[in-house]
Amino acid sequence: MNAASSGPRALTLRILRSSPTEGIAPHWQDFHVEEAEGMTLFIALNEVRETLDPALQFDFVCRAGICGSCGMLINGKPGLACRSLTRDLGALITLAPLPVFELIGDLSVNTGKWMRGTAERLETWIHSSQEVDLTAVETPMEPELAEAIYELDRCIECGCCVAGCGTLRMREEFVGAIGLNKIARFRLDPRDERSDDDFYQLIGDDTGVFGCMSLLACHDVCPKGLPLQTQIAFLRRKMAASGA
Ligand code: SF4
Ligand code: SF4
Ligand code: FES
Repeated sequence: MNAASSGPRALTLRILRSSPTEGIAPHWQDFHVEEAEGMTLFIALNEVRETLDPALQFDFVCRAGICGSCGMLINGKPGLACRSLTRDLGALITLAPLPVFELIGDLSVNTGKWMRGTAERLETWIHSSQEVDLTAVETPMEPELAEAIYELDRCIECGCCVAGCGTLRMREEFVGAIGLNKIARFRLDPRDERSDDDFYQLIGDDTGVFGCMSLLACHDVCPKGLPLQTQIAFLRRKMAASGA
């Protein structure tokens, strides 16, 4: 029998349900949907919510891999549900919320709280003694440098690298690949007047770049393909020189 005559697949979405606010302990629940052409997990989950269980919690905003809100464990691996085609997965798909982050319910987690905390801890904003003049013409930047900064700014804060990080499971103060990537981004920015010694104060210990075990799950799961491996290795060399 060829694939065309076998008809649409019957998919089972095995979802880890829970609700901390209602005291519902984590448990697996199966939902069955018929696969459609070009179906993503976003479409499948919406079908479950519309036709089988309106109480199912999960987050989506853009459906296009831009907002970062649909991160979840897909067959045990962090990924974006809106960018995951069911045809690339088996007929049984397990879905669970990203670990590390505060659980809201079912597949929904509070990534924003973790991201805010890390941004405050690492002071991820431009530190400059210059007065800001909103009427001034923007200072030009070399296109190569602007491109290098943009490359690191592509992070959508989906939390997949955080959820895949072994160090973060053991040490919750660890800033993760996303935190290290942000430091690398501000280190590149000529408008930021911080020195490597200043950055060392922020990430020069085992909650920062020296806590990273370099197994690179972060790099493997990042849906935006950020160069996390290169940035972590580069920062480690720079911070080792700064602390010497
Ligand atoms: S390489 Fe470092 S930041 Fe990336 S997952 Fe491993 S421990 Fe975490
Ligand atoms: S670095 Fe990649 S995996 Fe981590 S939050 Fe940003 S986009 Fe997501
Ligand atoms: S819904 Fe925005 S990244 Fe998936």
